[in-house]
Amino acid sequence: MVAVQRSIVAHCRSGFEAECVSDILRIATRARIELACDAVAGSALVNASCGALDNARWERALAATPPWFARSLFVGDGPHALPERDRVTPLLTIATEHEPPFRAIWLETPDTNEAKTRSGLCRRLSAPLTVAADRAGLLAPDDPRGLRLHVVFVAATRAWVGTSRAATGSPWPMGIPRLAQPHSAPSRSTLKLAEALMTFLTEDERLRLLKPGMHAVDLGAAPGGWTWQLAQRGLSVTAIDNGPLRGGVARDPLVEHLRADGLTWRPRRPVDWMVCDIVEQPSRIAALVAAWVADGACRRTIFNLKLPMKKRYAEVERCAALIGDVLSRRRLRHMLRFKQLYHDREEITGYLSRAE
Ligand SMILES: C[S@@+](CC[C@H](N)C(=O)[O-])C[C@H]1O[C@@H](n2cnc3c(N)ncnc32)[C@H](O)[C@@H]1O
Repeated sequence: MVAVQRSIVAHCRSGFEAECVSDILRIATRARIELACDAVAGSALVNASCGALDNARWERALAATPPWFARSLFVGDGPHALPERDRVTPLLTIATEHEPPFRAIWLETPDTNEAKTRSGLCRRLSAPLTVAADRAGLLAPDDPRGLRLHVVFVAATRAWVGTSRAATGSPWPMGIPRLAQPHSAPSRSTLKLAEALMTFLTEDERLRLLKPGMHAVDLGAAPGGWTWQLAQRGLSVTAIDNGPLRGGVARDPLVEHLRADGLTWRPRRPVDWMVCDIVEQPSRIAALVAAWVADGACRRTIFNLKLPMKKRYAEVERCAALIGDVLSRRRLRHMLRFKQLYHDREEITGYLSRAE
């Protein structure tokens, strides 16, 4: 196994750099790799350098413990100084040191207002760099390793460069899905569930596990953005909220709205899905979703945890342990994942499923 001097570079939501560092350290501990993390609060980017990185070990650990707060994460080096005139030539030279060919080249900035001023630079550079890389034989869209080359401009003349794999990396540049707000959905939070389904399920699972005829319960449903996502896929939805549903979803024959307390309401028969967006203490929601799955009230659940101002990582760890305890005590094999989605704010989204 080749060990080379590299850094881990991660995008995260601005203000969540400390949590992103905790993510990287958790993966590094599993990989038995020592890292020194550097994170400036508000920069939306974290880098962690290591004397020698065994790529295969890092990849295995990453696959086994996907990050919670890092939106997108790659192995690379930098920041490289680039000239203002011709950035393409030096970038091609740097790219050749990252084991081409690549499936794609992603020109990125950290997700901050300051850094977004360089989005135009990324757009302008994209075509010439891609053409030059293609001519140099650095691109192969079908390459089985699925490497994507990331170039992150932390300044107009300084960039981190590295690669992630399609199997373990984010499917989107900067870890940001560009989702259009559906006109007929009643709230922006509809995109949260749309992104969660794209994040936690493969395309095949989305087709197999979200089918007409299935039944879902939406706890804390109003005004109906999450219910809309499920009904769009043909599921019948019981929407629980004392508040009103709005727009077409309120008249959708697939949707039944019940004014009830989502923290105590239970369905008469098991349902395929339960989703929960109730604003409550995270541990209370964790206990709720664990009980639903443990009791067989639902097969799988997507839920949102509203994080406290402090000790946010510890809170997610506490919720993960709580859910794990409940299901382990009942000897139920399960899968639990968390991800702070692009559409999450001071929140994190979870996915819990009984093993198939
Ligand atoms: C963030 S909003 C949900 C937004 C919704 N997911 C959407 O996409 O439109 C939270 C909702 O939870 C509801 N809620 C709060 N506590 C609740 C409870 N104990 N039972 C049911 N609903 C509750 C609120 O009335 C509010 O409508």
